[in-house]
This record gives sequence, structure tokens and C-alpha cells, in this order.
Amino acid sequence: MDTQEIVERFAEESHPDVLQEFDRASLEELVAKHETPFMVLDLSEVDFQYRSLQAALPGVTLFYALKSLSHPELVKRLKSLGCHFDLATSGEVELVESLGIRGDQCIHTHPIKKDKEIRRALQFGCNRFVIDNMEELKKFFPYAGQAELIIRVSFRSKQAVVDLSRKFGCSLEELPQLVETAQQNGLTVIGLSFHVGSQSLTPMTQANAVRSSIAAMKVMNNVNWKILDIGGSFPVSYQEQVLPIADFCAPVMEALSEVPDGVEVYAEPGRFISGPSMIELVSVVGKAKRGARTWYYLDDGVYGGFSGQIFDHAIYPLAPLKPFDPTGDFFPSVLAGPTCDSIDVVAENIELPDLQVGDILVGKKMGAYTIASATEFNYYPKPKVVVVEDIFDPDTVETEA
Ligand SMILES: Cc1ncc(COP(=O)(O)O)c(C=O)c1O
Repeated sequence: MDTQEIVERFAEESHPDVLQEFDRASLEELVAKHETPFMVLDLSEVDFQYRSLQAALPGVTLFYALKSLSHPELVKRLKSLGCHFDLATSGEVELVESLGIRGDQCIHTHPIKKDKEIRRALQFGCNRFVIDNMEELKKFFPYAGQAELIIRVSFRSKQAVVDLSRKFGCSLEELPQLVETAQQNGLTVIGLSFHVGSQSLTPMTQANAVRSSIAAMKVMNNVNWKILDIGGSFPVSYQEQVLPIADFCAPVMEALSEVPDGVEVYAEPGRFISGPSMIELVSVVGKAKRGARTWYYLDDGVYGGFSGQIFDHAIYPLAPLKPFDPTGDFFPSVLAGPTCDSIDVVAENIELPDLQVGDILVGKKMGAYTIASATEFNYYPKPKVVVVEDIFDPDTVETEA
């Protein structure tokens, strides 16, 4: 079935099967080999997402934001594709170092750091750091001549699901003072950065932020600007469809056409690359009729792989693995996680075909900010990650981690 047919069927059905693009037999094979709950990291999807974004942002250097999903196999695959890396902690430095990535292929983007973290990144060979305030700038005085600074500016966005400019970034008005103080203390400012928020539903905030940043660069002509870093934010279709990535990036690219000569453009995508690369398979372990609804208890929930539903405000598309008739009988249901906490509910108002204990459910687009924020509350282990070269290919190479 091609994409157009799937879209048309979706439009016709009140209970569309979100798994219809998958080969259920391949998923059944995985279930026969691995105990649920487990996630499947599909490396061919990593390739696809990386290449799609790179094609939509020609000339932009991509620094993958490790925080969204730091599985070593994904990092290794991105390295082989020529991707660079956005690091925020010493733990992330250690991970990329252990995988043979060089410091000069990375930037350190956490606007607030301990001195120890600055030293660790410098020791690794990563010398480009983001700052956004005077106190942070002072931490770099001892590293003049070693560290290069990128100043993060805040551009608030109501159109992003996660507004990151609330917590980080200086105002455009604060920039000249930061630049002057850096220069007086022998520090080199090389760029501006921003992050308009994760899962941005419109490219316009990013395009406007590009324009404002370029204007600021032109005004502050006493700086040898080398970098404009446009952050992450590139969205993924969960239950709602978002713009195709080429359409999302077109206005951003248009704004970037005004970038001054000699300024390289960086982006820090996380979700767009990792989100679609992973699915999760969970089992129904209990079933109870409570009032008008059937409660299905799963072997993973919001304390585990579904943690992004709390922290990242994402609602993942879900469907039973066993084939069902989208025009058949559906019943009001609740999907609950396994822990003893009542907040541990994955879906409250969902209509499902009748399921039995032992049935499998599949959650899609579960790569970004899922296992990265999972806990082991109640001593339930985090779901393991099975790595496949291609989920559609039965001869796929599998590893477990
Ligand atoms: C500094 C920084 N860069 C990049 C990202 C990745 O953003 P996204 O997943 O929206 O692409 C984040 C997400 O929190 C971030 O804080």
C-alpha cells in the first residue's frame, strides 16, 4: 500500500490502523524472540530521517542532540553518516568519546555548566560552548584562548509543544554587554544560537529567529561571526500530522539565504532523527471491566518507555499487533501502566477492539525522550532495546542492549 492510499484509508476510517505500514509478520517474529516490554531501534529509519533532514537543510551542519536518545548503535550510525554531535553533559562527552567521535565534531550546548564539565569537554577536544548570561561567561575567563563562545538568544514560541526559550537564552538587548565583556577578558565569541522549542508546529518562529539573529550579527560588526546555530525543534507526526520536513524547512532556508558570508549554519536536531526510529512492544498483562470501560494493564507505562507522555507531552500512536477490522466493534478502553501509581495511565479515552491478556500493543514514534527519561519505579526494569538494521527485513541483524 503506498502512502497516498494509507492517507486516504485513514481519512475514511474512524478507527484507522496506525500499524498498517508495518509488516505484522516481522513484528510477530520479534515478539517470538524477545520478552515484552521491548523497544526496537530501526537503523534504516535513522538513515532515512538523517538524510531527509539534511536534504531539507542543504549546507547546514547537523549536530545530533544526544539527550533525545543516546543509544550507542544510533550514535555509531549517525557518526558513519557524517553527523556531528550536540553534547550537554560530561556523561554525553564520555559516551561519544568511547565511540571514537572527536571533540572537534561536537559542540557543548548546555547554557549552564559546572567548571568541572567545562574542563572535561576541553580535555576531550570540544572547545565550542554555549553561554547565555554573565555568570556563565565569567566561568570561561580562565579558559580564554582555549574556549570559543556561542551566545544563546531566547525567542519565545507559543507554537512549540516544549517552549525551551522560557528557561534559557538572553534577550537581544543583553547581547552587546555579553560580547563586550567576553572580548575585554580575551574570550572569542564566534556565534549566536537559539532553540525555539521542541516539536515546533510552525517554522515561522525559527525563520524569524534566523532573521533577528542575522540582523544582530550585522549590527555587532566588531565580532568575527563564524556560526549561526538554529537549534532543534523539527517536528514529528505523532497522532497529529505535522508539515513534511521539506515544507517545514523551506521558510527557514529562505531566511538563511541572508546569512553573512563566512558564517556557517549549525542545527541541533534530536526528536526528528530519533523519534521515528523506535517502536515499543508491550503486552496486556491484566484486564478488568470498571464501569463502562475496560481497563487493560500493560507491562510498561509512563514510568518506563511511555515517560515522554509526562515529560515531553507526546501522545504516541498505538495499535494492537493482532490484525483487526477498522470497521468492526470498538469499545471504550483505558490503557494503564504496570506500576501501583494511579498517574500511570497511557491512554484514558481510547476505543479498542476487544483484547485478551497476552495480546501485544505497539507504540510508534517512540524514540525521542522516551527511554531517555524512563525510570525503574516499583523495580520494573526499563524496556530493553533491540536493534535491527531494518524492521521490514527478515534477515535483519539484531543486537540487544
Ligand atoms: C540545547 C538543545 N539542543 C537541541 C535539542 C533537541 O531539540 P529537538 O529534539 O526539538 O530537536 C534540545 C532539546 O531539549 C536542546 O535543549
